[in-house]
Amino acid sequence: MIFKKNRRAVSTAILIMGAISGFSQSIPSLKDAFKNDFGIGTALNNSQIEERDPALTQFIVSQFNMATPENVMKSALIHPKWDTYDFVVPDKLVEFGKKYNIKINGHTLIWHSQLPSFIRGIHSKDSIQTFFNDHIKTVASRYKDNIFSWDVVNEALNEDGTLRKTVFLDYLGEGYIAEAFRLTQQAAPNVELYYNDYNNEQPAKRAGCINLIKKIQASGARIDGVGIQGHWHVGKVPFKDIEESILQYAALGLKVMFTELDIEVLPRNFQGADVNQRMASNPAMNPYTAGLPDDVQQQLAADYEALFKLFLKHKDKVTRVTFWGVNDGNSWLNGWPVRGRTNYPLLFDRNNQPKPAFYKVIGLKK
Ligand code: XIL
Repeated sequence: MIFKKNRRAVSTAILIMGAISGFSQSIPSLKDAFKNDFGIGTALNNSQIEERDPALTQFIVSQFNMATPENVMKSALIHPKWDTYDFVVPDKLVEFGKKYNIKINGHTLIWHSQLPSFIRGIHSKDSIQTFFNDHIKTVASRYKDNIFSWDVVNEALNEDGTLRKTVFLDYLGEGYIAEAFRLTQQAAPNVELYYNDYNNEQPAKRAGCINLIKKIQASGARIDGVGIQGHWHVGKVPFKDIEESILQYAALGLKVMFTELDIEVLPRNFQGADVNQRMASNPAMNPYTAGLPDDVQQQLAADYEALFKLFLKHKDKVTRVTFWGVNDGNSWLNGWPVRGRTNYPLLFDRNNQPKPAFYKVIGLKK
């Protein structure tokens, strides 16, 4: 009896391992399929950066050639105290990139969210300026030779295109954005510098974004690209606005990238990706715990196919497409804006198996 039980356990384990490793060899690779078009990136969390699951590492490096840290380079984590930086996991990420030939996009130097808690105790312009200068100088110069790019400033705009009220705007004035680019360029002259936001494909916010970019350019600082995060909703992807944005941003001489792509399938009563905005949990908000209905799965696949068709049409302007997570299981959308939901926003399911959307996307290259 014991023998039988063990045997079953062992054969199940072999089956699972076989499925995981065999799978990463036999399924087509996104990064290879699009290698002549644009980079294919993913967001990596701590456990992925630390390679805690070797089969998952193999899977990641077979599919992606660019990576963005999901959290570990944000100021709350990399700069937890006034005089203390924590480079342990960020350094591992840089090693990961070197080892597997994956380009790293630093995310992010100046952002109003996920700030270190000590910022709340600072109430003078001088101290905010000192934090700002030291933070950029210290972090950007540490990685000046081993990351590819920085999201220098993240989410500085309101939906109407005006500048978001943040601690940086309050104390330093609107010039803080160009100044962040100037300081990063000084500390890391060979790294590409980007402005990153969500909904900046929407007309009003896009106009604000163009204004912001022009001001950076007029200041003499360098800006190489603009990131459109791409947190969209199934059946409501704004294709026209996206195409118009690619054209308008490229016309400013910038590279365009889709930096945090995921397509939400669960109900939501607002648009965008403000991490501070939350909604209460109730069962109606979490309808697909037993699996994604086929019609939604097909709509998701159609949306991804149309998106990648658009990216390919403008591959001379689009340099990178990064998914915000490796698979549905580790997507932030399981926890935001409602905690504890079962979401399905990516191309790979919870077992790293390709979804119909994956086959539609890869099918564009056949
Ligand atoms: C998210 C992470 O995925 C979560 O783990 C974290 O709790 C909150 O931030 N826009 C961004 C990203 O620029 O940094 C955010 O990432 C998602 C929205």
